[in-house]
Amino acid sequence: MKKGKLIGFAAMVAAAAAVIAFSGSFHTRLNKSEKEKNVQEAVAEVEPEKEKQADIVIIGAGGAGMTAAVEAVQKGATNLVVLEKMPITGGNTVRATGGLNAAETPYQAAEGIEDSIELFVEDTMKGGKNLNDPELVQVMAEQSGEAVAWVNEIGGDLSVVGQFGGASVKRIHRPSDTSAVGPMLVKALNAKLKELEVPVFLETEAVHILLDEKGAVQGVQAVTKGGEPYTISCKAVILATGGFGANSEMVVRYKKELDGFFTTNHLGATGDGIAMMEELKAGFADMDQIQTHPTVNPDTTTMYTEGVRGNGAILVNQTGHRFVNELETRDIVSEAILNQEGGTCFIVFDQSVRESLSAIESYIEKGIITQGNTPEELAEAIGVDKDQLKKTLEQYAVFQSEGIDAEFGRESMEVPMNKPPYYAGLCAPAVHHTMGGVKIDTDSQVLKEDGSKIPGLFAAGEVVGGVHGANRLGGNAVTDIVVFGRLAGSRAYDYVMEDGGFTEATMNLAQEEEAVEPEVKGNYKDGTYTGTGKGNNGDITVEVLVESGSVTAVNLTDHAETPGIYEAAEKAVIASVIKTQTVSVDGVSGATRTSDGIKEAIAAALEKAK
Ligand code: FAD
Ligand code: SIN
Repeated sequence: MKKGKLIGFAAMVAAAAAVIAFSGSFHTRLNKSEKEKNVQEAVAEVEPEKEKQADIVIIGAGGAGMTAAVEAVQKGATNLVVLEKMPITGGNTVRATGGLNAAETPYQAAEGIEDSIELFVEDTMKGGKNLNDPELVQVMAEQSGEAVAWVNEIGGDLSVVGQFGGASVKRIHRPSDTSAVGPMLVKALNAKLKELEVPVFLETEAVHILLDEKGAVQGVQAVTKGGEPYTISCKAVILATGGFGANSEMVVRYKKELDGFFTTNHLGATGDGIAMMEELKAGFADMDQIQTHPTVNPDTTTMYTEGVRGNGAILVNQTGHRFVNELETRDIVSEAILNQEGGTCFIVFDQSVRESLSAIESYIEKGIITQGNTPEELAEAIGVDKDQLKKTLEQYAVFQSEGIDAEFGRESMEVPMNKPPYYAGLCAPAVHHTMGGVKIDTDSQVLKEDGSKIPGLFAAGEVVGGVHGANRLGGNAVTDIVVFGRLAGSRAYDYVMEDGGFTEATMNLAQEEEAVEPEVKGNYKDGTYTGTGKGNNGDITVEVLVESGSVTAVNLTDHAETPGIYEAAEKAVIASVIKTQTVSVDGVSGATRTSDGIKEAIAAALEKAK
């Protein structure tokens, strides 16, 4: 967008303020009405100098958005920004555990695994009950091997291949130390974006995508945490806002059977992108297709990766019996669990499975695994009939040695599960993946209801519908975000080049808040905790968000500290706590009592998270 158009843009933004519809992000959830009021007032007063310009705006710094940014810059893009509404990057991607599916890779070849693009497509379509868009599936499968190579090129680590449900062969790729895929990928993407000097504006929530009179993209309207309006004129937008698994209202709207289910998703998975696309009359696919993950601990909402079952674990019900082929697709396993007494079951494994997958260590650290030296001891500890559990394990060992599961037809049985000690974790299904979303073509270009394109608008990742049909196979979402994230970045680059090319960057991080990322991992229980401390003018109450063991956000929810003074303490103390995962951080001179109050409040909240 050329500078001359900026004043007109301000008027457009003021008009749009009347229809701002806020999503339920962490911040808006905390003080929605206050923020809404601030934004409406501030938007009406927006000054031309507050408006910004970039050639590509990427909405969402999860796996798809960050991949798109890296790809676009690698191709030559010079003026692009990433907006992220949460205080850290990563979205659901940082939670991804099991891995990334890819066919015909050198890592499969090294293990003698015979796979093909065709088989990958076939498994994906079958898993998705043929509701998937076959063209999108073809693209994903064809480019999956390159996706693995690309992740490794940018500093990631995908080299071990494992078995997952619904896959005919071992196809899921994970890090060499068998740890979770998401943290590895997000770390690599964060580092690459830093190296490429791509500005990522945190706590900046996109609310509208603006089109010109011809229906082509011309900008993004966003707000900062403080309610400051943010209008960026641009030529192309890549929508990468993820799914809506954490928006229970929306989940129930599309699938009422899921009322009351908990979720594996991060708080920011609220479907903002869907709302933005509804405004633009985009086309949608499969919105009612919402997946539950079968093995989630109901007390902590921690997901036991399918990799535990892939590497050997079985599922037993409250009477100690197996009841399903554990490596069936998630819809089938989830339903089978819901049909058991209490709608729960136990995931049971032995020491050899524990040794095969380092992701298991985090479950043990979180205290959601019970241990026994014998099957009987384990059964007693979890309240299951001991003779039956012993019998179930013995019978499974026979099936494993004979290579035939006479009970449920499970094909992959990695180990006999007879190496003590034995382990069990309680599980139940939880909302996990929203397969539905905006329609795209094989260039990641967003399509309208009538099938025509919205020029300049691209989308990738969980916000997109059609790739996974009625049921996503485990490991296919990370493939999806890398393949279509790259495509979106590449095609957005081409689009800008055709539209006059790139301009010099006018927005950079030096003008904005520094990104805050944890330097170390925390050791807390996931959840949202409140705490109170004594500030300069009275009590300060905070809400602390802990995700994957680490503090990822802190909000001051109630206080009477002095405006113009407390903000510096708020910003510095919270940033330091997130970076270091402790409250032993420096305060801000000139706001010492406020700093101490914030630290005391965070410490009180974290007491509850130990
Ligand atoms: P996300 O990673 O969720 O990123 C979207 C980002 O957009 C978020 O950071 C969000 O805060 C931001 N955002 C949203 N709205 C706005 C807005 N209005 N303005 C600015 N920013 C916004 N899949 C696999 O294939 N393999 C796995 O092993 C695997 N494990 C998983 C484990 C868990 C616990 C979960 C929850 C999912 C798992 N998945 C896995 C699924 C997979 O992780 C996700 O589908 C995928 O990472 C989504 O990537 P994304 O980039 O589309 O969205
Ligand atoms: C898991 O590791 O079980 C989750 C994988 C996925 O959702 O693809």
